[in-house]
Order: sequence, then C-alpha cells, then structure tokens
Amino acid sequence: QVSLKGRSFLTLKDYSREEILYLLDLSMELKAKKNKLGHSKKVDGKLLDGKNIVLIFDKTSTRTRCSFEVAAFDEGAHVTFLTNSQMGKKESIEDTAKVLGRMYDGIEYRGFSMQLVQDIATYSGVPVWNGLTDDDHPTQVLADFLTAMEHTGKPLHEMKMAYIGDGRNNVSNALMIGAAKVGMDYSVGTPEELSPSGELLATLLPIAKENGSTISVTTDPYEAVKGADIIYTDIWVSMGEEDQTEKRIALLKDYQVTMDLLKASGNGKVLFEHCLPSFHDLNTTVAKQIHEQYGLKELEVTDEVFRSEHSVVFDEAENRMHTIKAVMVATMSDFLEA
Ligand code: CP
Ligand code: NVA
Repeated sequence: QVSLKGRSFLTLKDYSREEILYLLDLSMELKAKKNKLGHSKKVDGKLLDGKNIVLIFDKTSTRTRCSFEVAAFDEGAHVTFLTNSQMGKKESIEDTAKVLGRMYDGIEYRGFSMQLVQDIATYSGVPVWNGLTDDDHPTQVLADFLTAMEHTGKPLHEMKMAYIGDGRNNVSNALMIGAAKVGMDYSVGTPEELSPSGELLATLLPIAKENGSTISVTTDPYEAVKGADIIYTDIWVSMGEEDQTEKRIALLKDYQVTMDLLKASGNGKVLFEHCLPSFHDLNTTVAKQIHEQYGLKELEVTDEVFRSEHSVVFDEAENRMHTIKAVMVATMSDFLEA
C-alpha cells in the first residue's frame, strides 16, 4: 500500500517505480472525476479542504502556476501566489521557509537551484513541490507519462521515448530519471556538448537495468528515434540561459524535430510531445526577435509536426493539472482513502 502523506516532491530520484505508478493512477482517477462533470462545472472536491498552499515562482510560468491553482481550487485548498517576497534578499531561505511552514500546508517552488528547493523542504517541515529548477522538472514528467499511456494504450515499461535536443536540461534530466524508474527505454539524440551529465548517467544506468530498460545517448537524432513510441523535444534555450542563444542555435540546428525525423522512427503512430512553451511559429515576441537575428522561423520543432496528428502537446498541457493535483492530494490530503 503506497502512502505519500507528508512527503516532498523534489525529484523523481526520491520516488520508487511503485510510487510513480501510484501517482499516475491517482491522476487518472482525479481526471475522470473532473471530466465526468463536464467542462466548467465545479468539482467541489474536499480532498484538500482547509489546506493553504503557497506558490513561489522565481521564473516565469503559464502551465505550472495555473495547474497548481486550478488543482488546489478544485479540491478546496486556498492559494497564495508569492512573487515579491523577502526570500533570498532581506531574509535567508532558512528563515523564510520556517515562516511559511508555520502558515502553509504545502509549498511550491520554481526557480534556479536544486539546493534552494531542498532547503525550503528541510526548513519548512511541510511538503514542498518542485515546480522546475535548472536541473529537474519532476511534475512535468508525470503529465508526459500519463499522456503517453492514454495515447498508446501501452504500459510505460513497454514504451521507448526518444528525446531530441538539449540533452542536459531540466526536462531531459527529469524524463531520463522517470524513464529509468518506470522501466521505459530512453534514448537521447544530442550533440556531444549537450550530452546528459556523466554523474546522472552513472546514477541512472543501474536503476534502468534493474527495471529492464535501457538509456542510450547518440549524436545522431535519426538513430535515437528508431522504434520510438514518443519523440520529445524542449526549447533549445532554457530560462536563465538566454545569453547562450547563438551558441545553442549553432549546436542544435540539426536536431530540429521534423516530419522526416518522425518517419525515421518507423512507427506510423509515433507521438510528438513537448513540455511547452515552444518555438514552432513566429507568433511570439521572442520568436520574432530570433527570426530577425538568425533568420529562423522555427527552432526545436517544425510547425508542421507541432500541428500534426502525431502531436499530443495540448493533452499533455491539460494533464499537468491532473497530475499536479495528484501530487498535492497524495502528499497533503487528510481525506485520501488508502
Ligand atoms: N511546461 C511548463 O512547465 O510550462 P510553464 O513554464 O508555462 O509552467
Ligand atoms: N527547459 C525549459 C522548460 C520550460 C518548461 C526551461 O527551463 O525553460
């Protein structure tokens, strides 16, 4: 019997295969409960009744913030969105975390270092959820796995995911950790300079082996996608790395996800996943700047792939909410039936 009550959710490294599958089951259950009501009907859930949660974002967000808020409201919790706190400026992380732990039942943090989110967990004494750091994005993975299960009808340990692009960013790291834990084959197509860290690989290879899966890294994206059920990419320049734009474009220009790459999987039903936001068209201010400066109108994925029948990106985005709800309910609810 799995119980995650009182646990923080900082990285999937801390979670077993059984616990990850439990969170995905709970996500499906909560999603079914909401969908049964139909769009815009009040869920009126009580699983988080009386809970107060605080959301701290040191980086921008659309999906993650909205997911935490909607999920909390659906199940009766109250939310504070904190943007201009004293934390790390006039007050130490330790003191701020101790204060928040006296008022809140759970804390979400998105920002830069893993150490910071770990410190908040240590000093607050309440469950802390990692809403993205430079090195990890664990809530994203639950949504990506749930979407893949829904669309392929296969269990995770029978799937292969190919990740193309920046092989050492937070999303790639988090997916690789998740894949090793659930026994999914994971291949990374990335230039040498952006290969996953040797330390992370050394940690994950034995875990993957134990769970019957493989992790492989290649500089050839066409090799990486062979036999894939899911082709995944993320932006080439993550938040906080904007000064590396020119270098990244030079390194990654041959790693764009195109229809040809999808075909190279040999799987006519291959899924395309992306955590979003994505540079697939010119309808954003940043994309326009990149277009003016580098002459490119699409970066990590073509508009054709993004809008194709292979693409499940908006189901994935919706699933952020259902899976984040499951994380909060599992770690904080007083009413979850075991
Ligand atoms: N995928 C994701 O984390 O999106 P946001 O940056 O909009 O939260
Ligand atoms: N790698 C991206 C993910 C955004 C959800 C970033 O960190 O900006």
